Amino acid sequence: MHGITNYRSKMKVPGLRAFLVAAGCAQGLAAGAADIPAPENMLTNPGFEAGLTGWDGHAGAMIESSTIRHTGTNAVAVARTATHHGVRQNMLGKMVPGQPYFVSAWARTDSATNETVMLSFRSTVDATADTTAIATESVASGCWVWLSGYYTVPLDEPLNELVFFVSGPMPGVKLYVDNAYVAPATGLRKAAAHYPGLRLGSTMGPTLFPTNVKFASAHAGHFHMASTENETKFKGLQPSQNTFTYAKAESIIDFSLAHGGTSRGHCLVWHGRWVPSWVTSEVRTPAAMRDILWNHIDTVTTHFRGRLSHWDVVNEAMMADGSLRSTTNCPGESPHWYDNPGIGYATNGAMYIAEAFKHTRLSDPDAKLFYNDFDCHYTNSKSDAIYYMLSDFVAQGIPIDGFGIQTHLTDNTFKIADNYANLQRFQDLGLDLQITELDVSLPVDTNGFATADSIEKQGQIYFDTLGTALGFSNFKLCQIWGIYDGYTWIYKFSDYARGQPLLFDFNIDKKPAFWGVWNALNGQAEKAAVLDGSADNTSSLVNSPLLRAAAGRRLNAYAANDFITLQTEMPFKGEWNVKIGMLKASDAGQVQLAIAPPNSTTFTNIGLPQDTYSASQLAQEFDLGMVDFPEAGDWQFRFSAVSKHVLSAGLALTIDYIRLSPVHCSPRFTLPPADQTIPANSDLAPVLFLAEDDTASGSLVVTATSSNTALVPDAHLVISGASPYFTIAATPLPNKAGQTTITLLANDGTLTATQTVSLVVLDRRR
Ligand code: XIL
Repeated sequence: MHGITNYRSKMKVPGLRAFLVAAGCAQGLAAGAADIPAPENMLTNPGFEAGLTGWDGHAGAMIESSTIRHTGTNAVAVARTATHHGVRQNMLGKMVPGQPYFVSAWARTDSATNETVMLSFRSTVDATADTTAIATESVASGCWVWLSGYYTVPLDEPLNELVFFVSGPMPGVKLYVDNAYVAPATGLRKAAAHYPGLRLGSTMGPTLFPTNVKFASAHAGHFHMASTENETKFKGLQPSQNTFTYAKAESIIDFSLAHGGTSRGHCLVWHGRWVPSWVTSEVRTPAAMRDILWNHIDTVTTHFRGRLSHWDVVNEAMMADGSLRSTTNCPGESPHWYDNPGIGYATNGAMYIAEAFKHTRLSDPDAKLFYNDFDCHYTNSKSDAIYYMLSDFVAQGIPIDGFGIQTHLTDNTFKIADNYANLQRFQDLGLDLQITELDVSLPVDTNGFATADSIEKQGQIYFDTLGTALGFSNFKLCQIWGIYDGYTWIYKFSDYARGQPLLFDFNIDKKPAFWGVWNALNGQAEKAAVLDGSADNTSSLVNSPLLRAAAGRRLNAYAANDFITLQTEMPFKGEWNVKIGMLKASDAGQVQLAIAPPNSTTFTNIGLPQDTYSASQLAQEFDLGMVDFPEAGDWQFRFSAVSKHVLSAGLALTIDYIRLSPVHCSPRFTLPPADQTIPANSDLAPVLFLAEDDTASGSLVVTATSSNTALVPDAHLVISGASPYFTIAATPLPNKAGQTTITLLANDGTLTATQTVSLVVLDRRR
């Protein structure tokens, strides 16, 4: 129901009905009884709404339920006499060794001074305890701060203790904690663990999407943050004067929180059509306009303080030629923030922007404040002007934290060097860099479809865009402007000439664009573990703007057959296209790639030897063709020097990346459910497991059958969720005890995978 309604509101194209059916949307997104949000949070009582259930004081601290809370009605308050005093939950037996988890929590203190708050895990293997700090933040008095990061459970045995805890402030300072989260990191979230300071976001418009299980799972399986598309714009929050409406925005912020994330506020000052007519229809004095704007900023930033961790204070104030955007050009419609009459700084250039930042900092000292604009990802007159403006702001101490680069792309090729140079100068100002609105729109036919060829090229654009930004330490967020092609602003905006701009298709299945993002995050050679190397090879990390993520792994070979072996995870078995990125340089020679399965010593060459010589340094991608990977797991990729020119002392091979594109792969139970024992008189409460596939997200179907239907009939097994997060629940028949083997079947439409789980039912049930 809701998928279609929203889709229609976005996409009034001719032949819509045929289009919907062809795209599978009618079936794919229909709401139903099983439409429940992804159940991935593994913590008990994560929002402290059930009092202290599941939680204890860490290191002997006293905890109590608190009405000072981040959301809902309660949080926890920790009375503390030591820095490590905190609040904890025992995770022993719940989390799987070797598996990365994305974890987060919100923390606050009422200390008069800034305090340090930390999210940590403590593990004890045998008798050796280890504490791992996942996230550390400084928090000002009375404000909630988001702590987030990754944790991988140790593989060593015996694991005797595993505890999630939040602690940190000075002894005596009361600590409040709310909205904690632990979920297996999968898909893009897992790939992004290579960049601990980077978060991935997506925006969503309609408030009802969060209840669509496929949509919710696609978000939670891959992104850390969800933000509003329109609901925190001026009209979204103050549709008529002094009437503030927060419900729609809050449903999206709450959705993000429920999946472990935070949200960006977008945007306070903007000329666009999301300025309500009550502002634009009346001609007022500058003082009156200023009152309206300051009142809006004060009210909404105060309302959301601690929940919107970033604000776009000013959006799109610059024209393509680098002049400030005038608001006189649409009489009767303009918001008049700048000129005619503006808020009082009409003849003072960017002063109205600076004043807006100053005002916002005063009303919300904790949000990071951004200037946000489009068509400024390359060096051009517009980004030049923004650069000069932000340089002035930094020099003058105007409170600005970052530059939001919208990055709505229509490119056929991405200009990497130009984008790199542009990002570099903004990073040099000390600003955070965020890609805030990434999408790559494609020309579409009258039914709204792009060609297979352009969908393929789109994967390259995503790979290049993210791959370039990853080279910057200040790059903190890559936010996509939407999740799937069935819900995007692009169709309407382009008068239905362009579309399909996102990572997931109309069925919420993964596109080459998804794999472009995944490869940028997952495939960088400098991040891959080095498993092995020949005796006289000296491998090292190299940095160069010519390389993706600005870094690579160099193999210094001195003789033929010198090699280095890197490890890369193949998430699915099946056929993949393998490409490698290398830096060609003046050492003449050839390199050969060979692969071996996990723990094997048998390597197989893939592709032919590739020439490494170039008169000047040149980043080049080599397509090694289609390769069958008969199993999933950590594969070995061995790069060998085949030869070197007699006149070269050595052969310096710089490996930039390994890029893997699935052609056709089997589904996989990436985190199967553990065997279960059901206590007497009980049912099996939902147990989380992960099943994924190379293309299917929305359309991966998991079913279950029981080997002992006299104990647990098939109809008493309930699978909920959508890829990647599913749960299985079971209700044994009354007065039965025994064992049954559950067979789970994952079907992506063509290929299947199976997984068995043992269920032991103890004693008789009433
Ligand atoms: C767009 C939304 O996606 C549309 O739904 C809405 O009708 C208009 O605004 N730059 C921005 C965003 O800063 O706020 C715009 O969002 C897209 C371009």
